[in-house]
Amino acid sequence: MKLGALSLFFASGISIAYGKVYNSLSDLPNRQYDFIVVGGGTAGPVLASRLTENARFTVLLVEAGPDNEGVLAIQVPGLQNEIDYSKYDWGYSSVPQAAAGNRTIQMARGHVLGGSSSINGMVYTRGSADDYDQWAKLTGDSGWSWKSVFPYSKKNERWTPPPGGRNITGLYDPKVHGYEGNTRVSLRQTPAEPFDVKLFQTTKDLPEFPFSLDPNSGHALGLSWNQNAIGNGERSSAATAYLTTAVRARKNLDIVLNTQATRVLQTGSSRNTEIRTVELAPRSGGTTRKTFTASKEVILSAGAINSPQILMLSGIGDRKQLNALGIKTIVDLPSVGKDMPDHSVNFVSFFSANGTPAPPLDRAAALAEWTANRTGPLTEDFRMNTLWARIPDNATIWQNHTDPSSGKNAPHLELYFANTGDTAGAVIILVTPKSRGSVSLASTNPFDHPIIDLGYLTHPFDLEAIREGARILRRFFSGPAWADYIVGPASPEPSSPEFDAAVKSTISTTFHYVGTTAMSKKGAKTGVVDPDLKVKGVKGLRVVDAGVIPFIPTAHTMAPTYIIAERAADLIKSAW
Ligand SMILES: Cc1cc2nc3c(=O)[nH]c(=O)nc-3n(C[C@H](O)[C@H](O)[C@H](O)COP(=O)(O)OP(=O)(O)OC[C@H]3O[C@@H](n4cnc5c(N)ncnc54)[C@H](O)[C@@H]3O)c2cc1C
Ligand SMILES: *[C@@H]1O[C@H](CO)[C@@H](O)[C@H](O)[C@H]1NC(C)=O
Ligand SMILES: *[C@@H]1O[C@H](CO)[C@@H](O)[C@H](O)[C@H]1NC(C)=O
Ligand SMILES: *[C@@H]1O[C@H](CO)[C@@H](O)[C@H](O)[C@H]1NC(C)=O
Ligand SMILES: *[C@@H]1O[C@H](CO)[C@@H](O)[C@H](O)[C@H]1NC(C)=O
Ligand SMILES: *[C@@H]1O[C@H](CO)[C@@H](O)[C@H](O)[C@H]1NC(C)=O
Repeated sequence: MKLGALSLFFASGISIAYGKVYNSLSDLPNRQYDFIVVGGGTAGPVLASRLTENARFTVLLVEAGPDNEGVLAIQVPGLQNEIDYSKYDWGYSSVPQAAAGNRTIQMARGHVLGGSSSINGMVYTRGSADDYDQWAKLTGDSGWSWKSVFPYSKKNERWTPPPGGRNITGLYDPKVHGYEGNTRVSLRQTPAEPFDVKLFQTTKDLPEFPFSLDPNSGHALGLSWNQNAIGNGERSSAATAYLTTAVRARKNLDIVLNTQATRVLQTGSSRNTEIRTVELAPRSGGTTRKTFTASKEVILSAGAINSPQILMLSGIGDRKQLNALGIKTIVDLPSVGKDMPDHSVNFVSFFSANGTPAPPLDRAAALAEWTANRTGPLTEDFRMNTLWARIPDNATIWQNHTDPSSGKNAPHLELYFANTGDTAGAVIILVTPKSRGSVSLASTNPFDHPIIDLGYLTHPFDLEAIREGARILRRFFSGPAWADYIVGPASPEPSSPEFDAAVKSTISTTFHYVGTTAMSKKGAKTGVVDPDLKVKGVKGLRVVDAGVIPFIPTAHTMAPTYIIAERAADLIKSAW
């Protein structure tokens, strides 16, 4: 057995083994690792945990943010809106969005162990089978097809009954879930309320809106009960699910927190295209830098904003852009940071009569209950149900636009219902946008925020598709179940200039940034990584995070990121 920890112990006489969580770069001893994973977010912990299952491998996991442990608002699902963004978020916002009233849009990115999975809305959705088949087509690798990734999704998941003993028979499909994985996934504990009864009655009344037994079957179209990354009443983040106490204690894993990777460097000669060296700095800033060289690979899992930032700072990106900043190009990869889609969101509402608002939350009592036995209202966060809908084939939008969806079983829109008592409505999420944004460098300073353009509404399809979403909501609320309930529209009519103005002045983000380090076929001129997630044109370097997604799935992007990370772990293990 080649145990790195043991050989180091004997060679240096230092009596500290691997297997520690270091709170600062200055505490981290100089050691040799087989793998260095940059970013302890959603994908990073999966890699750190899976790779260290093999006792022959030593791994260093580098995270810019602090520890997740002991942070109540990160642990309790219902306290999501109490998370301290000044500590646990990167604080990014977009450049003014020219097609959306020149507004800058506030973004969010987890800055803590568990990354965005530690601060996100916990909605657990894999997306459509057609989406993954599209990944396989775009990459030329059938390993990314739905059939091939489905076992990885099950490997990620540990289906868990909701707290409080709710009867969930008939509300999900037991056949499509994993029961022995890491991320706990559950339905909410609260049974159907009057508003939900009307929602599901509509699936019996209107043929356009079928009931969908399980949104994670690969065939989501219809109205279904939401599933969330929550288990035993607690948020199940990548940190809690993959970096358990036992994993943190593994002798072949070191974790360093509050430490930012500033660049990756050529290993050995500066003419080399072998990149296994990482430059690290204290997250608090300053000029201190330390380098670590992995004996096998460096893996960037810093997310769709920061992985391209690190690549560009390192000279891997669009030569023209790098020249403008005086950065020497190592590999000219024009696609780095480009073609970034997001799922934008708009709220459309109606006045309602006879509605019952949710009772006000008694925070202290709810927290006491949660603390005592992990039950009660704080075990839930977003609790409403979702309609996954296609724009009809005869809609006028198709006169001028081709269909961007991956197939007939994939939705264009996600309608996430909301009910306040005197209004009812839905947030309308466009899951097949044609607009694209980008990430680029503002300067050569790694501590400066990158320039992020969400590109909202820059393609005319998107506004028209959002109008179609509002029309879908109108048709849904025209069902007989709503006759004594929906009084009239509170938002402008979808074909009116007022509707367009409202979209432009309120459109916002669901934080589903992908595609900035996209996979493409081996040898392709566009794209950033090969289907095995190795950066094109160099050796020793992969990217494993939401940025490699080549086609935005019709899903919230956490579960797809887990799928990528689980498969990546197997690809890396089998390479060594
Ligand atoms: C507020 C919010 C709500 C969301 N809601 C949902 C939802 O309900 N459901 C869903 O499916 N998806 C949701 N998402 C999206 C989803 O969480 C992300 O797409 C997914 O988690 C991305 O995973 P990742 O590994 O690519 O990046 P991240 O999870 O963001 O991880 C990147 C990690 O790298 C670290 N890092 C970055 N740069 C460096 C560096 N230079 N050096 C060291 N470390 C670095 C970061 O601190 C972070 O921990 C939400 C996201 C946010 C922010
Ligand atoms: C947005 O800003 C640009 C540049 O400042 C300006 O030319 C344009 O008129 C503005 N558009 C709107 C809608 O305010
Ligand atoms: C749970 O619900 C199912 C479907 O509605 C029903 O058939 C079953 O009897 C219920 N089980 C219990 C224990 O109530
Ligand atoms: C949980 O604890 C609260 C007290 O805070 C109690 O009222 C409630 O009945 C308990 N629930 C269960 C299921 O034990
Ligand atoms: C599309 O078809 C539906 C159902 O046949 C019909 O009610 C609707 O008016 C049609 N829409 C358009 C724009 O033609
Ligand atoms: C299609 O585009 C033409 C030309 O720009 C425009 O006149 C027409 O209104 C568009 N049709 C729809 C349904 O948007």
